[in-house]
This record gives sequence, structure tokens and C-alpha cells, in this order.
Amino acid sequence: MTNNFVPALGNPKLTRFYDLAIALMTRERKWRPEFVHLIDPQDGEVLIDVGSGTGSLAIALKSQAPNSRVIGVDPDPVVLELARGKAKARNQSIEWFEEMGGAISSVLGPIRADKIVSSLVLHQCLPDMKLRILGAMHKASKPGGQLFLADYGLQRTALMRLLFRQVQNLDGWECTTPNAKGELPSMIASAGFRNVREVRVIQTLTGSISFFHAIA
Ligand SMILES: C[S@@+](CC[C@H](N)C(=O)[O-])C[C@H]1O[C@@H](n2cnc3c(N)ncnc32)[C@H](O)[C@@H]1O
Repeated sequence: MTNNFVPALGNPKLTRFYDLAIALMTRERKWRPEFVHLIDPQDGEVLIDVGSGTGSLAIALKSQAPNSRVIGVDPDPVVLELARGKAKARNQSIEWFEEMGGAISSVLGPIRADKIVSSLVLHQCLPDMKLRILGAMHKASKPGGQLFLADYGLQRTALMRLLFRQVQNLDGWECTTPNAKGELPSMIASAGFRNVREVRVIQTLTGSISFFHAIA
């Protein structure tokens, strides 16, 4: 698989500002803890974070369940280096792999997730890549395992559509439009997940972020 991915802030030169930008532009202090609460990581579980970026979600999951096995996968070596540094500073042992989301089986081998998670990744991917990633996430889940996805979803109001244009200009219209039109639930279902539900919508300065839950 070719490693054609959009970097964390749409431009590699901006990657080192990623954590600050996300904190300022997405109301991260609201949605990230709520998302972790929804995932409810438990000791003994295997949790896989696809498109783990600078590791904020994986680190929060590990903090909550120190005896869980947390694995982060991302195609960008630059963000993975930042993630490793953040986890090391917290003395956390998280496994990090460099790979595209659609090819995670090549690094995971037989590992299967109790909970497979992803945040703010699919809006950066072209439609066929979104489907490939979701398909790979389904294959990497235990039967009955749970999917938790946080990303820009259906933009329901004129204001949210307007604000989301900032993300669309940064990450490209072809990648972002299916999210804004509310196509994620049908994509999740077509990857093989069942009981797909949008469980939360949070308005931010860059459009609304939805949480999705489904069963493998
Ligand atoms: C906006 S960042 C989100 C990072 C992190 N999940 C978070 O919540 O902060 C998007 C991440 O998706 C990664 N990414 C882009 N295309 C990808 C793909 N095809 N498969 C997996 N990850 C991808 C980027 O490298 C980047 O780290």
C-alpha cells in the first residue's frame, strides 16, 4: 500500500503545533475526556488506536486502564516520535506501529482488539481509504468487539457547515465532504460493523464532532 496520507494538520510543517491547534480549535478539553469516558477502557483489554497521531487518545486510555494493552498505529513517523516522547514522559508502555490504517493487519498480526478506536482520522482520508481503514478495523476486532470513532460527522446547521470549511480548506474537499454529508454511519456498516449509532454530537469552532459506536 502506498503511504499517501494527509499529515496531522494538513501540512508537515505544522505537525509540531498539532496538539496546541487541536486544543484551541476543537474544544478538546470537552470532547477528548468524554470520548475516553464512552470508550471506558478496562484493565486486561486490548485497545487499538488507528491514526493515533501524537498519542493523546492512546495515552488517555492507558492512564485510565494502566493494565490494558494499548496499541497506536499511524503512518507518519513524525507524529509517532512525538507520541513516543509523550508516553515516555508519563512512564507508559504503549506499543506504537508505523502503518497506514488500511494495512494495520501487517503490523498487528494475530492481535485482535476488544475495543478499536480512532479520532479525527477519517475526515483526512479519501472515500476509498475511509472504507479500507474501516474494513481493516473490523478485521482487527474480536468478534463482538466494539468500535469507537470520533470525527467530524454530519454538519447539521449553516453555522457548523461554515465553520467546517476551515477543515475542508486544510484537509481537502474530497476527503471531508462525505463526513459533512453524514456518510460515515453507512460506511461503518458497509465495513461489516453492526448496530452503528451516532451517540454524541459536540459543536466546536471547526464544525461538529460526532461519536460513533458499533459492534464488530
Ligand atoms: C488530525 S490527526 C488525529 C490524530 C489523533 N487521532 C488525535 O485524535 O489527535 C490525523 C492522523 O491521521 C493520520 N492518518 C492520515 N491518513 C491516515 C491513514 N490512511 N491511515 C491511518 N492514519 C492516517 C495522520 O498521520 C494523523 O496523525
